[in-house]
This record gives sequence, C-alpha cells and structure tokens, in this order.
Amino acid sequence: MAPANLIDGRAIAAQILGELTQRVAALKARGVQPGLAFVRVGEDPASKVYVGRKEKACAELEIFSETHVLPEATSEKNLLALLARLNADAQVHGILVQAPLPRQINQATVYSTVLPQKDVDGFHPVNVGKLMLGDAGGFQPCTPAGIRELLARSNVTMDGAEVVVLGRGNIVGKPMAAMLCQKEKHANATVTICHSATRDIKAHCRRADILIAAMGVAEFVKADMVKPGAVVVDVGVNRVNDPTAKSGSRLVGDVDFANVQPIAGKITPNPGGVGPMTIAMLMQNTVRAAELATSH
Ligand code: GUN
Repeated sequence: MAPANLIDGRAIAAQILGELTQRVAALKARGVQPGLAFVRVGEDPASKVYVGRKEKACAELEIFSETHVLPEATSEKNLLALLARLNADAQVHGILVQAPLPRQINQATVYSTVLPQKDVDGFHPVNVGKLMLGDAGGFQPCTPAGIRELLARSNVTMDGAEVVVLGRGNIVGKPMAAMLCQKEKHANATVTICHSATRDIKAHCRRADILIAAMGVAEFVKADMVKPGAVVVDVGVNRVNDPTAKSGSRLVGDVDFANVQPIAGKITPNPGGVGPMTIAMLMQNTVRAAELATSH
C-alpha cells in the first residue's frame, strides 16, 4: 500500500485537466480551438520525452498542437524566424520553446521574442516582471505554478509558513520563491532560497515547514535535513548510473525518498508528483491564452 502521506500529483493533475475540458468545450462552442506550438532544438532525449508528454496532453484535451524540430546546429536567426512566424499565426495561442537550448543560442533572446500573450511558459521578461509585481494578468511558469496548486489542493497552509527553496534557476527556484512570498491566498510565506554558495544548507532546511528541492542534485535532501512533519516537494529529475537496471541507469529525484518519506508530514512521489502538474498548468495557460486572444 502507498504511504498515507503521499501527495498524488497524478490525481490532482487529472482533476485540473477535467476542469479544463469544460473551458475547451466553451471555446469550441464559439468556434475556437486552443493551439499550442512546440519548438524543440536538437535531439536531447529528456526534451523529446517531455515534449512528447505535452503533445499527448494536448491531444487528450483536444488542443491543437504542432511540433517544430530544428537541428542541434541551427542558428539563433533560424529559431527567431520560426518564432516570428508562430507569433503571427492566429491558430497558435501558445508557444513553448523546450529548454535546454544549444550553446550558440541565447536563451534570453529567444524567450524575449515569444509574444508575452503567447508565452505559456511564463519566461518572457514581461511575464517574469508581472509575477514579481503580484500581477495575476501574466502567465506564470508551469512547474512552480503546479507546485503551488498541488500544495493548495492538498490543504497545506502556506500563509506564514517557513518555505525553503533549494535551487535558484529561472524555471523553478526563482519563480517559486517569487510566487510564495506574495501577499495572496495560498502564498504569504517566509521564503528562503538556498543555492550552491549557501553556508549550512542543512540548518536552513531543518527550519522549513515546506521544503522544495529543485537544484538538480540526485538525492541531495537526506532525512537529517528535514524537520519531522514538514511538507517535502521533489522537483528533481536526475539520471544516475545503476548497473542493476536494464538500461544501466535510472531516474532519481533531489530527495532521498526512502529515508525522508517516513518523517515527512506530506511528500510528493517522484515520478507522479510535480511532473504531471507541470503539464496540467501548461494546458491551463494554453486554454487561458486562447480565451484571452478571442474574448473581444
Ligand atoms: N525544460 C525544463 N522545464 C521546462 C519548462 O517548464 N518549459 C520549457 N520550455 N522547457 C523546460
């Protein structure tokens, strides 16, 4: 039997997708089908898997999707030209450029080129700025938005909570911290961001009521770093060698799940925790982009 303190990301994501079905039907009734364009550069195996899952979610919700694959060696100019076409395409309400991008391409330039109203990833500086300002009119990055939703729907109190975010990346750590410190419902927390230069990470972690591990280090969070009863969210996806596995490797999170689970108040399994929520929030952003683009 599954331990009772698991936060079931798959079930909560399914609930959100169910709610979206009605919004997609309402759009359809007035002749609008939400459309999402994926752009993938190169053949990174993880990116292929992630984009594949997102395409499948679109198909299940009857969101139109198209995937553009550019070669690893493509120029930034080529990618920007594709984005200009997608920006101008009325069928496309959302655009997602899968990260990471090859070195010759400047990520900041790419994410600034996607129109803010089509930026369902929430990576455009305008949307990042709106998040910082507490302006709900922008699009918010899918993984941190999914974590917040996961905690809210699991009745985790964020108001006044001590939250420690491990990792300061632009995709998860920084936007997560910005979200949870807003003076809003399901936020209003005291947030600490820890990173590679943090002195005594363990001491910070042990204070946390909610510990969010998003630094990309396999099984970094050990049992002695967690306050008993704390809520632990594992965002990590790390491939580690495992000679006993058929493929020679396996995926592990940023949390030493086997040892942390027994002392956590609540914990996300990995897989089956944060991942499905990221996809659900992408669908939600896409439906919203289509609603906003066609509501005049
Ligand atoms: N790579 C890892 N996470 C993400 C994400 O949320 N969006 C995009 N575009 N790329 C990613």
